[in-house]
Amino acid sequence: MKGTALVTGGARRIGRAIARALAREGYDISLHYNSSEREAKEVAREIEHTGRRCRLFPCNFTNMAEVFRLIPAVFDAFPDCTLLINNASVFERGRLMDTSEELFDRQFTINFKVPFFLTREFARHCKRGHIINIIDAKAARSHIEYFAYTLSKKALYEFTRMSAKELAPNIRVNGVAPGLILPPPEKDDAYLERLSKHIPLQRRGDPQSVVKAILFLIRNDYITGECIFVDGGEHLIN
Ligand SMILES: NC(=O)c1ccc[n+]([C@@H]2O[C@H](COP(=O)([O-])OP(=O)(O)OC[C@H]3O[C@@H](n4cnc5c(N)ncnc54)[C@H](OP(=O)(O)O)[C@@H]3O)[C@@H](O)[C@H]2O)c1
Repeated sequence: MKGTALVTGGARRIGRAIARALAREGYDISLHYNSSEREAKEVAREIEHTGRRCRLFPCNFTNMAEVFRLIPAVFDAFPDCTLLINNASVFERGRLMDTSEELFDRQFTINFKVPFFLTREFARHCKRGHIINIIDAKAARSHIEYFAYTLSKKALYEFTRMSAKELAPNIRVNGVAPGLILPPPEKDDAYLERLSKHIPLQRRGDPQSVVKAILFLIRNDYITGECIFVDGGEHLIN
């Protein structure tokens, strides 16, 4: 038994792959979701079939009062929670000149402010633990087409390093920065295949590539403040 992991945005896509993999590793799962209730229940059923516990924690990250209730609720149900995966995110297109205040606030609230305060609350509740922030390979580049999104992930990247320093030695903080893993909802696989021709390894990854990096960071407890780019070399492109 490893204790419990809280995975935000764990009902679908990459978050779901992370939750399933952590359950296989022996963690009980606190699965956060916002709108994907049906999918979250499916994941919970699957996990419970494997003999691990899984409890659902709905929370809309645009409502900070709800956000501040999330960590206490998780620790009430699972006092042995030792792992937080900050995975939930929104990904919206827009250059600087197209960015409204609403878009900026949505990107920075969900992708940066919420992980910031979940980290603080987790560190207040957990004696010894590990936080993994899911960043983005774009954090190493100046990707202006997704201006506010990219900037929010750059902030999360720096936050990973700074919080690792402040929260040591009892809490480790690391990051995983995926590249071309799953197409955004309005795009298809062909779109990702096309983009992948422009990165060094010339192929896309899959959610299991992200999972492997997470498991590596969990197993190697001498790493903190690190970010693993799981992106086929995308971060090397100017
Ligand atoms: N997909 C990729 O190829 C890729 C590439 C680079 C980085 N990443 C990063 O990897 C992580 C997972 O990527 P993904 O594509 O699987 O993510 P995603 O599908 O875009 O979003 C993950 C989850 O975030 C949750 N979320 C969105 N708005 C929310 C809100 N207002 N309150 C609470 N939760 C909210 C959603 O939960 P509900 O469905 O329950 O509403 C959603 O399922 C993200 O951090 C992303 O930035 C992904």
